[in-house]
Amino acid sequence: LRPPDASGLKIAITAGPTLEPIDPVRYLSNHSSGKMGYALASAAAERGADVTLISGPVNLDTPPGVTRIDVNSALEMSEAANRLAEHIDVFIGCAAVADYRVAQAAEHKLKKTPGRDELTLTLVKNPDIIAEIAARPPASGRPYVVGFAAETRDLETYARDKLTRKKLDMIVANDVSQDGVGFGSDHNAALLLWRDADGSPSQRRELPTQTKPAMAAAILDIILGCLAKRHDT
Ligand code: PMT
Repeated sequence: LRPPDASGLKIAITAGPTLEPIDPVRYLSNHSSGKMGYALASAAAERGADVTLISGPVNLDTPPGVTRIDVNSALEMSEAANRLAEHIDVFIGCAAVADYRVAQAAEHKLKKTPGRDELTLTLVKNPDIIAEIAARPPASGRPYVVGFAAETRDLETYARDKLTRKKLDMIVANDVSQDGVGFGSDHNAALLLWRDADGSPSQRRELPTQTKPAMAAAILDIILGCLAKRHDT
């Protein structure tokens, strides 16, 4: 059986971590390797989609046929994503975006202050990129929006909350506390939740542990199935 074709679709995918500067030599970040997002980009391009990868700093080669925009911070990722939003059919937010950034990154390297054992950093909230894209009015070009949820407990509860609160069409929830899956691993396991054609978030599928390329193909099959259904209704 041939997998569903994605030719004619424009897809933007965020991948990897963001890096939030503290000073010119230090930053806040996380353990995302970019493997899951890059696997999705590769699978979508292989099926003929026009794919743009908005990538945080990772050590991976750009998949063949994919356009890559490199960013560092959440603010840069937000700008790139919003610039593309009206030109795409599908937006997939696989990046592990920092929820907060340092309010005022220091211009020069921070020095230890003699006699002070504590340093306090003030953090401010970053824009929620995927919620921004999902909030676009249909008239100004709102793509089909797929988020990810990285959780360490109560996977389905938190994922359902993100699906509804961020007004996503689909969410791919992974339990990143499990050994051998999630951040950095070559494998992943996920619970997919998505909306019916009538908008109710009633659809659910468990994807057992598998390689990230295999999971990317399975996620893409479900996304393309949903788009086909929307087209028919
Ligand atoms: O990169 P790998 O090593 O392969 O690991 C893959 C992964 C574990 C990073 C990936 O599968 C994953 O779960 N990505 C989402 C990580 C995350 O930040 O989850 P979250 O639950 O904090 O965010 C929920 C959703 O909101 C995500 O789609 C995220 O991209 C988005 N978000 C979050 C914060 C923010 N400021 N802007 C956003 O767009």
